Amino acid sequence: MSAQTLHKVAGGSPGLPRHIAVIMDGNGRWAKKRGLPRTAGHSAGADSFRKAARYCQKLGIEYLTVYAFSTENWKRPADEVAGIMSLLERYLRQALRDLEKEKVRICIFGDLAPFAPELQKLCRECMERSSVYTGAQVNICLNYGGRDEIVRAAKRWAADGCPELDEDVFGGYMWGGSIPDPDLLIRPGGEMRISNFLLWELAYAEMYFSDVLWPDFDEREFDKAIAAYQHRNRRYGDVGENE
Ligand code: IPE
Ligand code: IPE
Ligand code: MG
Repeated sequence: MSAQTLHKVAGGSPGLPRHIAVIMDGNGRWAKKRGLPRTAGHSAGADSFRKAARYCQKLGIEYLTVYAFSTENWKRPADEVAGIMSLLERYLRQALRDLEKEKVRICIFGDLAPFAPELQKLCRECMERSSVYTGAQVNICLNYGGRDEIVRAAKRWAADGCPELDEDVFGGYMWGGSIPDPDLLIRPGGEMRISNFLLWELAYAEMYFSDVLWPDFDEREFDKAIAAYQHRNRRYGDVGENE
């Protein structure tokens, strides 16, 4: 399906999502099916992420937020965690090299403090140097947890002297600040749960679950997810357009 076709939708249906969130799940099972170590699955997952970011940019998706490493993923075996960290480092170095070609703003959501100093430095450099690009934004959630984000937001609000609070003001304390909430959440890998991802921001996101494992989640799968989204009737608690 071309970008044009995806942009053209029936009256009343949502158009192209402005913001897509993805739980990049299924790397381990992808590797297991091939008799490979789990880290090979994460490496294939990183390739899939690069392709996804490019495709979303090509389609005109303004924001792509991906779950790369959760606050709970530290429970995994040390060698798997180390493998993920070195893939992250490799990705960030490559992103820094390709910054001018890709022209994408990169933001990292999550507390970087537990990461190695070199990795933290790369994250900060990517965020700073890519902040000049305003066309498309990719948010990478690292050491991210939805509950942790809400607790941190509350602490930062208190540290600001408890200004008058409403949902927009509180939402501004989340990692993404005032960017629009995700319109579409995609979870490949067959699980039907949120796993502590964007608990505040997903309030009215459309959910799309797929059995396809993340390393196999290609452009065609994105097209299917977006087409499914475009057939949803987003009511936000109202009665809807055709009632
Ligand atoms: C997602 O893939 C990547 C991370 C959580 C870092 P998994 O590693 O969870 O893959 P499965 O779910 O075991 O297949
Ligand atoms: C969610 O996947 C986290 C990421 C994709 C980074 P998990 O594989 O960690 O989630 P659970 O354990 O199946 O809920
Ligand atoms: Mg998993």
